[in-house]
Amino acid sequence: MSKRPLHEDPIKHIVWKGDRLQVLDQRLLPRTVKHVTCRTAADVAKATKDMVLRGAPLIGCAAAYGMALASRRNRLSDVVAAEPVLRRARPTAVNLMHALDHMLGVAKRTPEKNLGKAMAAAAVKYYEDDLGYNATMARLGAALLKKGSNVITHCNAGALATAGIGTAVGMIRAGWIAGKVAHVYPCETRPYLQGARLTLWELMEAGIPATLITDNMAAHLMKTRKIDAVIVGSDRIAANADVCNKIGTYGLAILAKHHGIPFYVVAPSTTVDLSTPHGDRIPIEERSVQEVVEIFGAKIAPKGAKAHHFGFDVTPHQLVTAIVTEKGVVSPANEANLRKVLSN
Ligand code: MRU
Repeated sequence: MSKRPLHEDPIKHIVWKGDRLQVLDQRLLPRTVKHVTCRTAADVAKATKDMVLRGAPLIGCAAAYGMALASRRNRLSDVVAAEPVLRRARPTAVNLMHALDHMLGVAKRTPEKNLGKAMAAAAVKYYEDDLGYNATMARLGAALLKKGSNVITHCNAGALATAGIGTAVGMIRAGWIAGKVAHVYPCETRPYLQGARLTLWELMEAGIPATLITDNMAAHLMKTRKIDAVIVGSDRIAANADVCNKIGTYGLAILAKHHGIPFYVVAPSTTVDLSTPHGDRIPIEERSVQEVVEIFGAKIAPKGAKAHHFGFDVTPHQLVTAIVTEKGVVSPANEANLRKVLSN
């Protein structure tokens, strides 16, 4: 297969229609391609909570559109009422809070009679900005890789999780086009299987050589095969550069350190939360236990089994080789360097 250019994004995962948002139902991928229609901010909040859409930057973009939907009657009070409904949808991905703060600011600065129009334009701009960040991060990130790298990635930090070509997967895709990436090993990412269902699908669609591994195979692979980098996204980066991402990321970072493998985090500045001093303060989403003891409705644990379902974990910044943002590369990953790059 020929290598498609970086700007090509065939995935219509959220489509703004002016009076509604069409959202690709990621819970059904890759087997079924079906869209859900969101007509209100509450619809967007529900789609976000239920994982119809997911991935930190995309959650932020959808929330921006949710605020635009709330503004259609040109009433600031509608927008103010919608904001906490959206904010409660998911607790960890700070892009959600960033988008809501931004959109609320736009609403408060705009004369009420122009609200609907201004909020729609602001939401479209928010989405397009994220698209641009993806392209920049892909370019900056790919430059860090050596030729012919075999890489591991986790969860889905691809086109499905952002407005553009993705964060971690964007870097991988740019690296592959430049001959820097030879092969990708996505971890399946229990319990939601974002790696198996979404990342592998994206990689295969792009024609990038990829082989699926279960989460517990990463250590063996690092020990027995040539793995040159681990590349992941993030849901929230604290001021000290600790990185919160999908559960299992912390373990991968420890393994990478042990095997002397660079560990890269790719995330836009909208994922950085300077108001949270360190990773231990990041709220970790705990989801339904049912999502762990069942797979697609089939029970895999004994009836009445207890289980944990932590959605995310925190990787201490000392384990991170570099954080790639659209404003530049933070390396070593620490507070001073993070603040310096963000001020660009
Ligand atoms: O629970 P999810 O699927 O929303 O979690 C997604 C992740 O953890 C991603 O790695 C992160 O949001 C970065 S997406 C560019």
